[in-house]
Parts: sequence; structure tokens; C-alpha cells
Amino acid sequence: MINALRGMKDIAFEESEKFIYTIETATQIAKRYGYAYIETPLLEETKLFKRSVGESSDIVGKEMYQFIDKGKNDVCLRPEGTAGVVRAYVQAKLDRRPRKDKFYYYGPMFRYEKPQKGRLREFHQFGCESFGEASVYEDFNIILMMRDIFDALGIAYTLKINSLGCPECMPIYRENLVTFLTNIKEELCEDCNRRIDTNPIRVLDCKNDHCQSLLKNSPKLINNLCESCDSDFETLKKLLDSSGIEYEVDTNLVRGLDYYNKSAFEFVSSEIGAQSAIAGGGRYDKLVEYLDGKSTPAVGFAIGIERILDLVQMPQSQREGIYLGSMVEEDIMDTLFTIASRKRQEGRVEIEYAKKSLKAHLKGADKMNARYCAVIGEDELASGEVWVKDLETKEDKRVKIEEW
Ligand code: HAM
Repeated sequence: MINALRGMKDIAFEESEKFIYTIETATQIAKRYGYAYIETPLLEETKLFKRSVGESSDIVGKEMYQFIDKGKNDVCLRPEGTAGVVRAYVQAKLDRRPRKDKFYYYGPMFRYEKPQKGRLREFHQFGCESFGEASVYEDFNIILMMRDIFDALGIAYTLKINSLGCPECMPIYRENLVTFLTNIKEELCEDCNRRIDTNPIRVLDCKNDHCQSLLKNSPKLINNLCESCDSDFETLKKLLDSSGIEYEVDTNLVRGLDYYNKSAFEFVSSEIGAQSAIAGGGRYDKLVEYLDGKSTPAVGFAIGIERILDLVQMPQSQREGIYLGSMVEEDIMDTLFTIASRKRQEGRVEIEYAKKSLKAHLKGADKMNARYCAVIGEDELASGEVWVKDLETKEDKRVKIEEW
């Protein structure tokens, strides 16, 4: 027997119904906020992610599905969606015109991680990216949209926010942090030691308890923001306060991708175990430039679909569609197919090919959760009619086949 690869999952039956419902719900809300669909390739040049997500990140350093293709191109399966959307944005020269563009997308992402509950090697994201709007109101608007999506899906969450500063305040802070970290170097774990040189900010989000206890007294960026970053962060907090969205300021929230500046946020669930982040995002004002576009502010987020599937509250399923069957000896399949084709203009129709008793047909209709059970018996065949029972109101009637 051949199984799916480790860390990769089939999504079927009730899970696939939830999957589709989740994507449809998120899509509907994204459209209400003015987002348009974008689809980018699963395979991209490796250097796209090196330049955007960052060479020092775990995603690029350790987790890429990377290979040389038959044309000798260094390519990899996308580990996330933002870089591809930015590449598409620059490639289509959308950065050259003074307009705002907003895109939503969903699909599989690939990271060669150590699989565990909530951490897959192939997983799905629903994401949104907004280009051309530098105002912190857009950051707030994006958080509102995420709130709307989680509310619509019936999912409880905690929102964590932080500010990662900008090219004015971040480098000064980074230097202070490196000085602090170098002084406690001996006591920090191996990963932290490596990161002091490659990506010191990420030391802050080390999962090691001992490291975390040492970091309690580290300088905090939030106390060292420049005027513009500070005032934006204050505005964001005010807006969240006045809209009643609860949040926590988490000074260690640094995100695992290098492209962020200013607002960073994560939605976390307490109901799904250790891998608790159900969505993450933030502002990335420099990324369009890094990828050879004209300087364009941008902000976005992505939701991890597999992480929320167990939490999604589906609406009560309603009886829907028509079950069609025959009780007669004669072959009347052509009639059933004709009825089915006509009725499919309106909705779902399924035909039972085997001749069965009325009781068995009603059972079949119930199993399909059909609204109507329609059957042709001897009497109906003689009179050119079909017997139709509404399984919700329990009323039944006979109707002329051509008129139904
Ligand atoms: P991210 O935080 O790496 O951000 O991923 C977003 C979400 O994807 C996570 O919060 C999590 O729910 C889910 N996720 C990540 N890795 C896995 C995994 N191995 N298995 C299952 N689920 C996972 C990004 O990817 C950014 N592109 C988000 C963004 C968009 N920022 C700006 N625009």
C-alpha cells in the first residue's frame, strides 16, 4: 500500500466540507473588504524566498522543498504565499501606478518541518495582501477582517500584537539587543547563539524556558520605537480598544519571516495544543523594493486552515436536492436522466439506478439528506407522473413528469 508522505494529509468527507465552508466564508468576507482573487504558482525560483522570507529564517534555512529542475533552475515549492503575490505584483508592474491593490488567495504551502499535531509539511493557507496603503488604519482594517472571519466561523481567539519598528529605529535597537545578548551568550542555547549573529531579533522568540528567563530583562523594541512607529502603534491600540477587540501586547512576537516592519500580529487559540497560532501577519513596507519593485507599503495576513478545521462551527445542515428512483420492472432510466438534467438547472439531483421498494428509496433519500424523494411506480408510469415527497414538510403529491 502506498501512503501519503509524512506530514501530508488527505482532506475528505466531513473535513473537506468544513474546508470548503471555511474557504467560502473567508472569501465572502475578503470580497466585502474589496479584495480580488489571485492565484500564483506553487513552484517559484528559490531566490524569491531567500530574498523575502530571509536566508537566516528557519523556513528558508531548514524547511524548503528545494530542487534543481530539468532546466537546471534552482526552484522550490512555496513555503508561504506573500512572496509569490509580491513577485506577481511587481512582474505585472502594478507598483508603477498610484493605486491600491488588494488580493486574497488560498492553497497549499510546503515546509519540511518535523510533523506533529498542527504542524504539517503540506498545509493550506487563506491569505490577504494589501498594497499601496501606508496608513495604520489599513493594519486595523486587516485585523477587523480577520476578526470577522473568525467570528463567522465561530472560533474563539486571543490577538497578540507587537511593533517591529522601521529602518530608523530597528537598527539602533538591534545593536542594543546584540550587546545585551553577547553579555549572556554563555548561558543561551545553541540556536540563540547562532542567531545573535544571523538574526538577533529571533532570539526573543526562543522556545527554551531558560533562555526566556534570561531574556526577561532584555531591551524591548516597544520602548525604543521612533516617533512615527510609536504613534502608529498607539493609534492601532486605540482603534482596537474602541472597537472592543481584546488584545495582548507581546514584545516577543517577532514572527518567523524576515520581511516585517511596524505592526505584527498573531491570532492564537487555546484549544488546539502547542501549535496554537491560527493566523499571522503584519506590515511589510520594504518587500516590494527588495523584490525589485518601486517602494510600496503593504500589509497582510494568512490563516492556517488545518489548524482551525476542528474549531469551525458549521451551520446546521439543511435538507437539499432531489433523490430520484424507480420501483418498476421496465427500464425507465432514460426518463430519470431527462428529469435529472432538467432539475439540475436548479440544484442537486442524484439518481438511484437500482429498482427498489418505496421504503428503501425513502431511506436512500434520507441518507443523502435530500429535500425531496421522487419515485416512479407502476401507477405513475401508467399516468406519466412522478410521486414526490417533501421530506421536510412530509407532504407528498403526484405531478405530470413534463410539468415537474
Ligand atoms: P506564518 O505565520 O508563517 O505567516 O503562517 C501563517 C499561518 O499558517 C500560521 O499562523 C499557521 O496557522 C499556519 N501554518 C504555518 N506553518 C504551518 C505548518 N507547518 N502546518 C500547519 N499550519 C501552519 C505567513 O506565512 C505569512 N505569509 C503571513 C502573511 C501574509 N504576512 C503578511 N501577509
